[in-house]
Amino acid sequence: MTFSLSIAASLALLFAAILISVTISTVRCNISPSPSNPRSIRYICTMLSKYRTQGVVYDTGSGWGTLACAIARKAPDMRVVGYEISLFPYLFSLLLKRILRVGNVTFMRKDFFAEDLSPADGIVCFLYTKAMARLKEKIERECRPGTLVISNTFAFPGWREREKVVVADLFRTPILVYVAGS
Ligand SMILES: C[S@@+](CC[C@H](N)C(=O)[O-])C[C@H]1O[C@@H](n2cnc3c(N)ncnc32)[C@H](O)[C@@H]1O
Repeated sequence: MTFSLSIAASLALLFAAILISVTISTVRCNISPSPSNPRSIRYICTMLSKYRTQGVVYDTGSGWGTLACAIARKAPDMRVVGYEISLFPYLFSLLLKRILRVGNVTFMRKDFFAEDLSPADGIVCFLYTKAMARLKEKIERECRPGTLVISNTFAFPGWREREKVVVADLFRTPILVYVAGS
């Protein structure tokens, strides 16, 4: 009885710690770690494999790792790097990588704005309006012309998309495909 009570108390504490940590980083980053839904993930993987089957892809803000793992599984010849700032989503993505046994994905607990994205052949993101403007400047500064960029929901200001699909989900989620420098 005491044993099961202490397990319940530990689980409640862990849950509270996750909730507090996720809330703090949501406020700091202006975005929650809500994952792309399964249909959007399918579209993003399809779009990516239409244009790129090799090279390095960054998930800028990889959340729980579901999108990055899906890309890595769909494109075994690509190397996927997920940058995530929020602790528990990051830890979960490490676990997911192990459970799914995906070798070609790496997760790092880093602010992607402070990282070098110049090796990118592709970048995927699901961010928010203000971050899109900042990421656009970073891509223009660092990345090679021809780098493929796929955004869930949010458009890059001033860029014309190469392709746009609307996912048949409740929110009619737009998936926008760009080619940097074009
Ligand atoms: C909406 S989630 C998207 C997760 C994943 N890319 C997907 O589509 O399923 C956005 C994530 O970006 C992370 N994030 C926001 N700004 C970041 C930054 N500067 N560096 C690293 N991660 C960041 C947030 O913590 C959040 O988990």
